[in-house]
Amino acid sequence: MDSEIKAIVLAAGKGTRMKSSLVKVLHEIFSKPLLAWVLDALNNLPYKTENIVIVGHCAQAVEEYLEKNYQNAKTATQKEQLGTGHAVAQALPLLEGYDGKVIITCGDTPLLTTKTLNEFIQYHDENKSDLTVMTTKFENPFGYGRIIRDKNNQVEKIVEQKDATEEEKLVDEVNTGVYCLEWSKIKQAFSELKNNNAQGEYYLTDIVKWANEKSLKVAGFVAKDSSEIYGINSRQNLEIATKIMKDRYLDELMTQGVTIVDRATTFISPETTIGEDTIIYPNTYINGKNEIAKNCKVGPMTHIRGNCSIAEGCKIGNFVELKNAKIAKKTNVCHLTYVGDANIGEHVNIGAGTIFANYNSITKEKKSSTLGNNVSIGSNTVIVAPCVLGENAFVGAGSVITKDVEKDALAICRNVQKEYKNWVKLKKGEN
Ligand code: UD1
Ligand code: CA
Repeated sequence: MDSEIKAIVLAAGKGTRMKSSLVKVLHEIFSKPLLAWVLDALNNLPYKTENIVIVGHCAQAVEEYLEKNYQNAKTATQKEQLGTGHAVAQALPLLEGYDGKVIITCGDTPLLTTKTLNEFIQYHDENKSDLTVMTTKFENPFGYGRIIRDKNNQVEKIVEQKDATEEEKLVDEVNTGVYCLEWSKIKQAFSELKNNNAQGEYYLTDIVKWANEKSLKVAGFVAKDSSEIYGINSRQNLEIATKIMKDRYLDELMTQGVTIVDRATTFISPETTIGEDTIIYPNTYINGKNEIAKNCKVGPMTHIRGNCSIAEGCKIGNFVELKNAKIAKKTNVCHLTYVGDANIGEHVNIGAGTIFANYNSITKEKKSSTLGNNVSIGSNTVIVAPCVLGENAFVGAGSVITKDVEKDALAICRNVQKEYKNWVKLKKGEN
């Protein structure tokens, strides 16, 4: 098995139907661009992977995103969108001299998993194939390229919807747009593609017929879960893909021993891990990368915004928002609380309505606070960062804490209660 693989990701299209000033592949699911889901699926393959992204529309935005987040991704520009085959051809100079495998996929299919990609590559290897196409079966194949197989069930060619005969339109096996190529064998095809078809485009799909004409080995790998190929073209597609992604992950979590009380109102990013016997109550939105340990209770109505780690046995209750928070075991954050940029010890109790004030809107700085083990915070407290509260410190309800608190100390910061005898009676004129 070769240890290196290169991938070409097609992302030059505009995505007109998104009706957006943002290029399609930068639209997000769980705050992560579609393109990033695709690149991560490729990068997680058990190979050294190098990705080449074909950019065109809004190339600058995509390039800037990649520079910031995927330094090892290269880009090739397709100035005019003359078709998928033409798009791949733009990568030719970057692959000069390369003779390994090339995966081709699209930047708008965020549901494709590393597992399926890996099975696909293994199938390609086992069949000693020169070109393998990933296919799937759809009850309604309208719009997709159809997989035409010969008498021996070998993939003969791919015919686009607009070029298909009535008979070919009846075929329910479709092209997913994912390919595995032995580059040295197939690369020549990209110099020979023609655009004499219904759309006047250089079709990538024509490499199948080309390879067969050259008597190269062509194979078709049928992906069982056709939802993995779901592509995003519209906002409707984006909503559906988000639900497919989260439902898939909720199933996985339940299989691992996590209780999900209500699937319909629970959103958990697949980048969050959750331990056994943790219960997630309804209306919970968990975004980004987080670690939630076992035996925790989260929700109902909890928003976890990323970069949080919650240790064993914690309770994160209703109307609680967490961001960049590290919480040690058996700590309770039960009601109406915001914890942002904090490091909280074990067995801490955070009273209802506590706010970690972490942001200075003038300096735009974020600062963090630290609470030792067994700290108790009374209700309606503001902790203005940066603050360090020592072990066992106790904060009286209604306090605004702006200074560090020593261990074992009581800190209280509010007006002394006054009482005016018979004030109500006097007001009402009853002597
Ligand atoms: C393509 C396939 C079709 C397959 C379907 C799966 C071809 C000719 N057809 O059709 O068989 O069933 O995908 O979704 O390949 N792109 C570029 N540059 C271009 C044209 C397209 O980068 O010049 C990119 C698009 O941004 C998109 C991808 O390639 O990410 C697919 O292009 P699209 O036009 O959507 O192809 P389909 O017509 O869907
Ligand atoms: Ca299309």
